[in-house]
Formats: sequence, structure tokens, C-alpha cells
Amino acid sequence: MTEPLLEDLSRWREETPGCSERIHFNNAGAALMPRPVLDAVKAHLDLEARIGGYEAARAREEAIATFYHDVGSLVGGKAENIAFAGSATLAYSQALSSIPFQSGDVLLTTRNDYISNQIAFLSLRKRFGVEVVRAPDRPEGGVDVDALVRLLERRPRVVAVTHVPTNSGLVQPIAEIGRACREREILYLVDACQSLGQLPIDVSAIGCDFLSATGRKFLRGPRGTGFLYVSDRALKAGYEPLFIDMRGARWTGPDAYIHRQSAKRFEDWESAWCLVLGCAEAARYATAVSLAVISPRALRLASALREKLAALPRIRILDRGGELSAIVTLEVPGVEAAPFLAALEERGINGNISLKEYAILDFGEKQVEWALRLSPHYYNTVEEVEVVVAAIGEILGG
Ligand SMILES: Cc1ncc(COP(=O)(O)O)c(C=O)c1O
Repeated sequence: MTEPLLEDLSRWREETPGCSERIHFNNAGAALMPRPVLDAVKAHLDLEARIGGYEAARAREEAIATFYHDVGSLVGGKAENIAFAGSATLAYSQALSSIPFQSGDVLLTTRNDYISNQIAFLSLRKRFGVEVVRAPDRPEGGVDVDALVRLLERRPRVVAVTHVPTNSGLVQPIAEIGRACREREILYLVDACQSLGQLPIDVSAIGCDFLSATGRKFLRGPRGTGFLYVSDRALKAGYEPLFIDMRGARWTGPDAYIHRQSAKRFEDWESAWCLVLGCAEAARYATAVSLAVISPRALRLASALREKLAALPRIRILDRGGELSAIVTLEVPGVEAAPFLAALEERGINGNISLKEYAILDFGEKQVEWALRLSPHYYNTVEEVEVVVAAIGEILGG
């Protein structure tokens, strides 16, 4: 494996307080925040405590504005295209709620879209009679793009695709799907919650109308942060969230309001500005390290982990598909999830368990009740991969 410059790796780790305590392979849950992110959050909280919450927001207005600019440039958009949200799900719901669904409309998605998105689609079906259509997978895993493109003949109201699912190491071909949507002028919503900060994201290359993501996962921002990218096309077309509030719109008369021109029309009035500032810092940190460095390193660590784990007896690696992410999933037939995770935690190793109900379609096909998810990031080390593999071998052998 090509290693980064030793001083880079040492700096990343020195700037990450959590590195000294645990082997953190739960970056797909919430990555360890680097020091500048932590400092930005704490400093603003302190300021709020000293001078008042509203006053602190006014005092830091310029710094808050950098959130929109720096998150926008991370995904290839402008500040005007970015709305802050308290989570990826909230960002996603705001986008979905802006689509004027009517009974019989088709919502085209995949078999690997995120659990909460699938629940939202079913809720749209229950309330508005939307038909939820899932494109089939290819035999080797991942959505069958040709089949999905054929389904576009049904003129779906929106195509909704999760870039990197939460529960498997898959990467979906979102740019290929985007090209097909653009050619047909079909609305396209992408969930980039697990890919932001892990893979380069370029909204122009993807051709999406909406893209939602969180700050806390591979971007290494604080919990309670997320954002929605809204394309110029969608803004011009007048999409606005169903429950637009006084942040997103001006009340212009007893029976009238006008929405803001920018994507801020998708925001709520109330936000935790300390977290917004922390998330802005995380975007700058990722840009400074560079996705060109972050991404190949995270993927290489994950693939080394996958290979070494696959060589252990009893372990079944569950990741399938043409392109794999920095998420490694496995099951051990006959072993219970909770004690397995607890044994890892006792050894100072962080991972996560996904249950079948989080991924009914995917886990149903793989015939598993649970999966252990391990998700290294660029600030992890080859040595940590080896320690984790040895620990799992020991737990299963003992
Ligand atoms: C692919 C994907 N989409 C969306 C979400 C939801 O993110 P949040 O918890 O910030 O709403 C997750 C969380 O794990 C996810 O993995």
C-alpha cells in the first residue's frame, strides 16, 4: 500500500484527539472530529454563553457565511445552492417535501436506498398514492443501470438514489444515472450521506437537482449537521419545502409569502450555529487534506481490511458490486451480534452493527440477520487494520 508522507499521517493523528484512545473504524457512523472542528464548536458555544445566542450569531455572521461557500465548493456548487440542515434525513425530507406529488406519480429508486428514505417513500405512497418503483440489481450487486434507464420511460416524478448505502460496501453509479435523468429532464435526488468526505463529489458531473449529506460521517464534522444542495435549475423552477418557514420565506401580506431566491429557502429559522461553524471547519479541513489524498487512502485501507478478514475462517464478507467503498461489512454465521461488538469494544475497537431491519431488501437477499460494519478513514493506519483483524481472529477463535 502506498503510504502518505509520514509527517502527514502523524499530523492528521495528532490533530485527532480520539486517535490516542481507540481504533475508530466507525467513520460511517460518526468520524472522529479533528481539533479545528472541535475548537470552532466550543468557541462559539463559549461566545453564546458570554454574550447571548442571538448576539453571538450576529457577531460571527461572516464566519457563518463561510459554511455555504466552503461546503458548496467541496461539492462543486455555489454558496447559493447550499442549505444547512440538522441531519441528512432532514435535508432529504425538505427536498422530497418540495415535490408536488400527485396520485399515480412514480418515484423511481433502488433496492439499496437508505432505510429512512425507503420509509419516506412508503409514507408518500400512503398519503398521496405515489407508486414506489425499485430498479433491479445486477447479479454481481449494485443497481442495473440499463434496467433503471428503461424504467425512465415511465416518466418518474423523481429518481432517488443513495450513492453509498449505509449497510454495504457498495458505490452506486450516480453520474451515469444522472446523465440519463438530464437527457430526459427528470428530477434527480441523490443521498450522498456516506460518500461526502470519502469520495469526491461533483454535483455538475452527477447532474443532480438535489443532494443531501451529513457533516458527522466521513466529513468529520460534528453531530447534528447536514446540508442540502439545490441546483440552480431546481431553484429557478420554484421548488420550495412544504413547511417553508420565516427563514425560507418572507410573509408579504395576510395571504402571501415569497420564498428566498437561494437554497436557504430550504432551511429552518433555528439552527445550532456552533455546529454550522464546526461543519464549515470540517469542509475546509477535508479540502486542505484533499479528497485526492483522502479517498484513495480510505479505500485502500478498507480493501486491505476486507482482504485480510476474508482470509479468516468463519467470516463471510457481504460487500458486493462493481465499485466498493470504505465500508466493510461481514457476518459470522452462528455468532450473536451484541456480544461480538462488545468484545471488540473491550479491545478498544469501534465498529457498528447493522440489523436486518435497516436493510430489509439487501440483507434479505444476502440472507443475514445482522452485519458488522467496519469503516476506516484516511487517518487510520495499516497497523490498526492488522490489530483489528487479529482481534477478530482472537474473538472468533477463543
Ligand atoms: C446512506 C445514508 N443516508 C442517510 C442517512 C441519514 O443520516 P442522518 O442520520 O444524518 O439523518 C444515513 C445515516 O446513517 C446514511 O447512511
